[in-house]
Amino acid sequence: MIFKSYAKINLYLDVVGKRDDGYHDILSVFQSISLYDLMTIDEKKGKDVSFFSNDPSLKWDKGNLIFRAYEAFFDTLNLPRIGLRITLKKRIPKGCGFGGGSSNAGVILLHLGRRFGVDLKDLERIAMDLGSDVKYFLHGGTAIVKGKGDEVELVEDITGYSVNLKIPNLSFRTKDMYRKISCFLNKNHRKGRDPLHLLQALRKVDPDGIRSNVFNIFENVILLENPQLSALLENPHGIVSSFTGKGPAVFTLLHGESGRYRFVSKIEYSSQGM
Ligand SMILES: Nc1ncnc2c1ncn2[C@@H]1O[C@H](COP(=O)(O)OP(=O)(O)O)[C@@H](O)[C@H]1O
Ligand SMILES: [Mg+2]
Repeated sequence: MIFKSYAKINLYLDVVGKRDDGYHDILSVFQSISLYDLMTIDEKKGKDVSFFSNDPSLKWDKGNLIFRAYEAFFDTLNLPRIGLRITLKKRIPKGCGFGGGSSNAGVILLHLGRRFGVDLKDLERIAMDLGSDVKYFLHGGTAIVKGKGDEVELVEDITGYSVNLKIPNLSFRTKDMYRKISCFLNKNHRKGRDPLHLLQALRKVDPDGIRSNVFNIFENVILLENPQLSALLENPHGIVSSFTGKGPAVFTLLHGESGRYRFVSKIEYSSQGM
């Protein structure tokens, strides 16, 4: 069976505090877009998995989130392993803020969950142990995400927009970026406003409202260390441009379908492979 493993962008991303467990609390709006990896998953005899990818850095080992999701699924639920043949055609740039690895983990969990009739709630628990944004990728579409990523509030999908992407040849480590952001938390930086205002402005197609509410707290840190990237945020042909996740990729938001990648809704997201 062949699945599209969709990327996400963050239309809004604020870090609102540091937790006792070392994680940060975020407040974010996640949106699936039609940039995807292709994952082919077929069952085969035996209990081992053969994995193939056009990305030679991804092997069937702990460094691969698909491997970790497969292992966690069978270990946590105490089910007998099944043999799989998995082919991953990687198209989502890695480490740029599109959540591609987490999306792949979400796809395999959803597939195995359907195969064994596992409740979504159980899949969500496994997802949270794999990474803070994996739970979102069990749903896709438009969602408000809070806490360390474990509070996923599904909202009515935003539709009718598309994005163009700029992907600088740099990669930031998530850990480093959150460490750096800690210094900004107590200072007087430009704060995000309210994701609900953003959703409202998007639904009304109010460009000024969208521009003033799209927000990414990492912009401060990224531009301080990489001032040359500010050119990426100029958006002659769109409503607004912003970094996604901890960067460094930038999306430019357009109304209508003229951008390269369109918004993907929850229905389209979940109806695959059924
Ligand atoms: N299946 C996978 N696809 C992509 N990256 C993976 C995968 N498994 C593990 N990784 C690791 O996760 C890191 C983060 O990748 P990814 O989730 O795509 O980006 P980001 O978290 O920046 O949005 C990669 O640099 C890579 O080392
Ligand atoms: Mg990630």
